[in-house]
Amino acid sequence: MTQDELKAMVGRAALKYVQPGSIVGVGTGSTVNKFIEALASMKDRIQGAVSSSSASTERLQALGIAVFDANDVGDLAVYVDGADEIDNRGYMIKGGGAALTREKIIAAQSHQFICIADESKLVGVLGRFPLPVEVIPMAAGRVIRQFAAMGGTAQLRCKDGQPLVTDNGQHLLDVTGLTLSEPLRFENEVNQWPGVVTVGVFGHQKASVCLLGTAQGVRTMTF
Ligand code: A5P
Repeated sequence: MTQDELKAMVGRAALKYVQPGSIVGVGTGSTVNKFIEALASMKDRIQGAVSSSSASTERLQALGIAVFDANDVGDLAVYVDGADEIDNRGYMIKGGGAALTREKIIAAQSHQFICIADESKLVGVLGRFPLPVEVIPMAAGRVIRQFAAMGGTAQLRCKDGQPLVTDNGQHLLDVTGLTLSEPLRFENEVNQWPGVVTVGVFGHQKASVCLLGTAQGVRTMTF
């Protein structure tokens, strides 16, 4: 199976976690795009979605799925999203698609995080994928130096030669050279740094379930 087929397989598999009549939290990325396509098949049986990015909102609305503001709904039963890396405890690195802040907000608002990923995302220890960190622009230089003091190398993410601006109007750093063997401790520490909006380690908002696409089928990991 191709990577695209693995993504489509887990996107469809996530449908069984969507409760009829509910509002479902929807993440961002190529794997979630497969989930959104599959969700269209049950759009008349759900109220709608809360979306983590402008890109996902556009896709949902184009398929006739209502998108609610997070502030207009209460807790959600289920949030479905991909990951850049996931370890065998359910901790993740996210934000490759620049949507980490809204993703973490909706994950926190949801009772279950259903992670959908192809098997290339499963790692022993987090840290090979460059860690995204959303920052207030004026703090970027200082945060880069703080990561350097930890042994990491942080770079401002750019698009078309300019700093990428997130859906929240902020900038993004991508940090390499760190081994995140204690994700919760790391997340707690970086969260304290002034100017950090969101660190892309999902420790407190880790996965409840991972549907991992493998050549043998969907492997369900529960954490
Ligand atoms: C978006 O900001 C990310 O957190 C995505 O969930 C992550 O990058 C996975 O994306 P893919 O499904 O495209 O690999």
